[in-house]
Amino acid sequence: MFSFLNKDQATGEVTERQLDETNIPAHIAIIMDGNGRWAQQRHLPRIAGHKQGMNTVKTVAKAASHLGVKVLTLYAFSTENWSRPSTEVNYLMKLPVDFFSTFVPELIKNNIRVKVMGYVDQLPKATQKAVQDAVADTADCTGMVLNFALNYGGRAEIITAVQALAKRVQAGDLAPEAIDEAQMDRELMTGDLGDLADPDLMIRTSGEQRLSNFMLWEAAYSEFVFVQEHWPDFDQAALESAIYTYQQRHRRFGGLETTEQK
Ligand code: FPP
Repeated sequence: MFSFLNKDQATGEVTERQLDETNIPAHIAIIMDGNGRWAQQRHLPRIAGHKQGMNTVKTVAKAASHLGVKVLTLYAFSTENWSRPSTEVNYLMKLPVDFFSTFVPELIKNNIRVKVMGYVDQLPKATQKAVQDAVADTADCTGMVLNFALNYGGRAEIITAVQALAKRVQAGDLAPEAIDEAQMDRELMTGDLGDLADPDLMIRTSGEQRLSNFMLWEAAYSEFVFVQEHWPDFDQAALESAIYTYQQRHRRFGGLETTEQK
């Protein structure tokens, strides 16, 4: 059991709680929202929120790894984020360069392996290099996978997977009737995560309650936890609190609870 101080989202009341070590979600995915609002509240430019958000990524990655999370997927840049002002996009493209240049030694020390999903080949060359170097430098790490969704979109991911399956059908390697969930799973950008591909817990910060084109296939049975904190304010305690909420849920995957089956 891990003890932590849980702050009730509605009342603000702080109570000591225990996390069940045997029920830590194996895969946590986070929609890191609210960087802009965090900055605006402080009369700072939006990019100051992204910079602070990058520091939160460091804190939360280490906390998740220590708690025994196996995969942490972070929505860092969506295929729709290109429509933001160019100064903001340029800054967001520089963040991975900053992040990995300072954080890779600590990732290695914590045995964390970096993975990226998204259309990386469309990113600026320096961003691509930073990401590819981080993946290569942490390739031998056997602990948590820190999976960045960068230039990622859930619908685009599904279309790319369907195109790959269609090519195999066209080449005569696959019968249309043989297309099933397992075939799709393998073609998706999470295919290499195997049994860990689907997030058990999906967190969105900043009070918004939508999926915004994130992991549309993989989130079919995820538990959703929406928290009020803006991403730069999210921390280890907030992560533990979200996991605690997850542990109070009863996952049924479309079936019935054991007690209901009787
Ligand atoms: C959403 O907040 C956040 C983003 C679009 C960018 C997220 C990126 C980071 C947290 C840094 C990532 C770090 C690395 C290492 C890649 P928003 O700007 O939409 O906030 P708002 O809704 O308040 O405007």
